Order: sequence, then C-alpha cells, then structure tokens
Amino acid sequence: EASLESKLPLKGTKILITAGPTYEAIDPVRFIGNHSSGKMGFDIANCAAELGASVILVAGPTHCTAKHSSIEIVKVTSAQEMYDACHSRFQNVDVAIAAAAVADYRPKTVATQKIKKAPNNFVVELEKTKDILASFGEIKQKQLLIGFALETENEIENAKGKIQKKNLDLIVLNSLQDHGAGFGNPTNKVTFIDKDFNIEPMELKTKEAVAVDILNKVIAYINE
Ligand code: CTP
Ligand code: CA
Repeated sequence: EASLESKLPLKGTKILITAGPTYEAIDPVRFIGNHSSGKMGFDIANCAAELGASVILVAGPTHCTAKHSSIEIVKVTSAQEMYDACHSRFQNVDVAIAAAAVADYRPKTVATQKIKKAPNNFVVELEKTKDILASFGEIKQKQLLIGFALETENEIENAKGKIQKKNLDLIVLNSLQDHGAGFGNPTNKVTFIDKDFNIEPMELKTKEAVAVDILNKVIAYINE
C-alpha cells in the first residue's frame, strides 16, 4: 500500500488549470481569437490526474479532450466567462496553473445583429479584459500560483516582471524563437523562473514532457 501511495504524489491536492484561447464576440457570428490549441493545459491536466490530483480544467474553445474521467471540465468562451468560472473555484484549490491564452482585449460593444458590409473601413474599439492570473495573485493565501509567459523579445526580463506584477511562485517562459516550439506545435522550449529569479532553461521537448516537468515542480513545492 505504501508503494501505491507513493505513485500518487498529488493525491489530496486540488489543482485549477486554465487552457486554450478565449473568443471575444464582435457580433453574433464573429469573434476575435488566437491560435492557442489548448494542448499544453490539457496535457498538464491529464498528467496531474495521473499523479492523483483533483483537477478542475477551465477551458476556452478547443478540440482537446481530457483523458481522465476524474477531471472536471468547465467549458467557457470569453475571457470574462473564464474569469467567473475560475473565481468561484480558486478559494478551494491548493494550486492554480494558468496555461490559457486569454485575450487581452475585447470589443467594447457587441452588436446584437450581424454587422452588414458597408463601403467604408470598419473600426472595432477594444477594451481590456480582466487579468485572471493577476487577480489570483492579489487574493492568494496558501495557493501555489504558476503562470506562463509568451515573449518574443527581452524574454527573461519580461517574464521576471510578470512574476512580480502577478505575485507568482513560478513562471513558465515559452520561447517562440526556437524552431518547432509554441502554438500549434507538439513541442515547447521553456525556461522556468521562480520567485527568487532562479532561472532553469529546459530542452526542447513534447508538451507532455513539459507537463511532467511542471508537475514535478509542484510536487517539490508541496513537499517543501
Ligand atoms: N493571463 C490571464 N488573464 C489574462 C491575461 C493573461 O490569466 N487576461 C495569464 C496567462 O494565462 C499566462 C499569464 O497570464 O499564464 C501571462 O500571459 P501573457 O499573455 O504572456 O502576459 P500578459 O500579462 O497578458 O502581458 P502581454 O500579453 O502584454 O505580454
Ligand atoms: Ca497577453
């Protein structure tokens, strides 16, 4: 029995994970979105469930499916819906991992009818969405908080800034500079940076293997 227990190092740990893109409506038939596949978040959720965690996965529009029936999936569309779904659950979890590519802006008004084509240019005014991860950082108590950072320049400096601004314990910096890494690809090249600014560059590997690395970090924090 002891050996079985040791194979489930996250038994009793509740983890909230966000995944996928968000879609921000312009009118009933159009939206602003991004290329996130949701795979990274789903791989983390599957791996966490395999390690014995109770997993709540709040996912934007994606074709990914969860492998474990124990994973509670909450499907959302917009950044505001993702924010609401996360906030009603955050207080009850031990760990939150924000892998979603949440839209930073949304159309300020949503047309109730399909917008008709007209001769002139068309301008959509955008307003900021709420930052889900930053809001977790403001209210967190015992929770371990892990975020992602997608950067194309000054990667390390920008990622460190996000750790401080969002009160994170760990950030997973995603490098788009390396061939084969990032959106739509099965692989990621990540660098871990913790709140003391220890920097750990990882090899290019599958998103499943990156998920294992992230959850090994979680296990180490929990056992600290
Ligand atoms: N995030 C979030 N809610 C948002 C925007 C981002 O929870 N409205 C989370 C993402 O899931 C990710 C982290 O914040 O874990 C960083 O996202 P990223 O887009 O890299 O950073 P931003 O803070 O949005 O800044 P910018 O896009 O300007 O680099
Ligand atoms: Ca962003």
